[in-house]
Amino acid sequence: MTAGVSDAIDAVYVAAVLVFILGLRAMSGPATARRGIVFAGGAMLAAVVATFFSPHLSNFLLIFLGVAIGGLGGWYWARVVKMTAMPQMVAIFNGMGGGSAAAIAAVELLGGLANRSTAVLSVAGAIIGSISIAGSLIAFLKLQGWMTSKPIVLPGRQVINTAVLVVGVGFGGYALVGLDAFWLLPFFVFLLLYGVLLTLPIGGADMPVVISLFNALTGIAVGLDGFALVNGPLGDAGYAMVIAGVLVGAAGSLLTFLMAKAMNRSVSNVFFGAFGATEETGAAIQGSMKPIEPADAAVQMAYASQVVIVPGYGMAVAQAQQKVKELADLLQAKGVTVKFAIHPVAGRMPGHMNVLLAEAGIPYDRLFDRDEINAEFPATDVALVIGANDVVNPAAHRQGSPLYGMPILDVEQAKNIIVIKRGQGKGFAGIENDLFYRDNTRMLYGDAQSAVGQLVTELKKSQ
Ligand code: TAP
Repeated sequence: MTAGVSDAIDAVYVAAVLVFILGLRAMSGPATARRGIVFAGGAMLAAVVATFFSPHLSNFLLIFLGVAIGGLGGWYWARVVKMTAMPQMVAIFNGMGGGSAAAIAAVELLGGLANRSTAVLSVAGAIIGSISIAGSLIAFLKLQGWMTSKPIVLPGRQVINTAVLVVGVGFGGYALVGLDAFWLLPFFVFLLLYGVLLTLPIGGADMPVVISLFNALTGIAVGLDGFALVNGPLGDAGYAMVIAGVLVGAAGSLLTFLMAKAMNRSVSNVFFGAFGATEETGAAIQGSMKPIEPADAAVQMAYASQVVIVPGYGMAVAQAQQKVKELADLLQAKGVTVKFAIHPVAGRMPGHMNVLLAEAGIPYDRLFDRDEINAEFPATDVALVIGANDVVNPAAHRQGSPLYGMPILDVEQAKNIIVIKRGQGKGFAGIENDLFYRDNTRMLYGDAQSAVGQLVTELKKSQ
């Protein structure tokens, strides 16, 4: 193999990094996100193909077998998965990444503990990868409904968890110092156990943040493995893992912190706060929730000059986005300006509302983020809240509330507010929402899909 081929492989890796970054940038806006995914996928494909030209590779049959099984499985599941099941699919795919990183580290360690510098990197990769796969599997089970999604809080869990982590890392250190691979077994068992214990107290609804952090950890584990491989059997080909790992680690960490910030929670509170284990009581709200009939709600919107639709988690579970599009089109046909207010953490996963509304064919230029739309609520005749709760809860403006400081959509400032929800259910944060009791708020009770369907029927009648 000539130096020229090696240089060409390195050049493909560098080009792939640049395209990854461009892809990530494009993914930050709904209009360009699809292009970003194609860019990043193409760059990954180029890097993988280039790696096959590395002189350090052997066992091609096994590699192709792995690629075929993984590729076919990924392609199939990505095609059949429902949008609502996307978080658990990301969890399980991410878990596979963490598991692969831990397995690669295990092979590296079993291959030789004597090279201390690479063995330390492999141990670090093994720690992070093991925690990531075990935690991601628990996240998957919770989101899939195969175990309770409520926080499972063991007494003295902080002490138990710390002890398990310390003992597990201790076994790894002992294996390194004593050059004895036997201790790698309890090392992996304890770290997998730690991943399980760390994730059990986290409620199902917090899982997107957790999955995102595990995703970042998987990237870091892969990067560490890559460094160990560069100094070992894979040579330059290990750089592909370093590059992919660093990018996933950086992008995943950023996403984790952005999500936590938008929820006004710290990442440590998500992991160690057992959010949702206890119910918030709070002061009783004065007044009552006043119902409205679909026919009256439809008339109010038909005569509005501007309607702002605020979708939330309830729209996602009810899969009401197609009906919502029909409603928006009918209103627009009557000369009403219809805008959508998108909160960054509405729903249960990043970009949840953007994805659903795009799926229904609602044009991007009708979607407005929090900063853009908040100034418009005072001039809005009707704000139609569909299955959103926390992201419109004015309690976020009050000191002492668990939501205090969370940036919300200021729906309360609209002239009239119509809220679609099934009953008295609280939002993810588990606290009351006095928006529902305001004089200018009316409740249209029902499942989001059927309630919006009723509005559509009423509007069609008046055509
Ligand atoms: P939530 O605060 O979760 O409120 C959803 C509301 O929808 C509930 O009050 C519920 O009331 C109603 N609902 C449920 N099913 C419905 C259905 N089939 N039809 C009509 N309504 C239905 O939603 P949100 O305002 O979108 O806020 C999201 C919350 O999740 C935030 O607190 C956020 O921090 C958190 N979170 C978000 C993410 C991401 S990345 N998006 C990740 C983790 C956590 P009823 O039971 O009365 O119907």
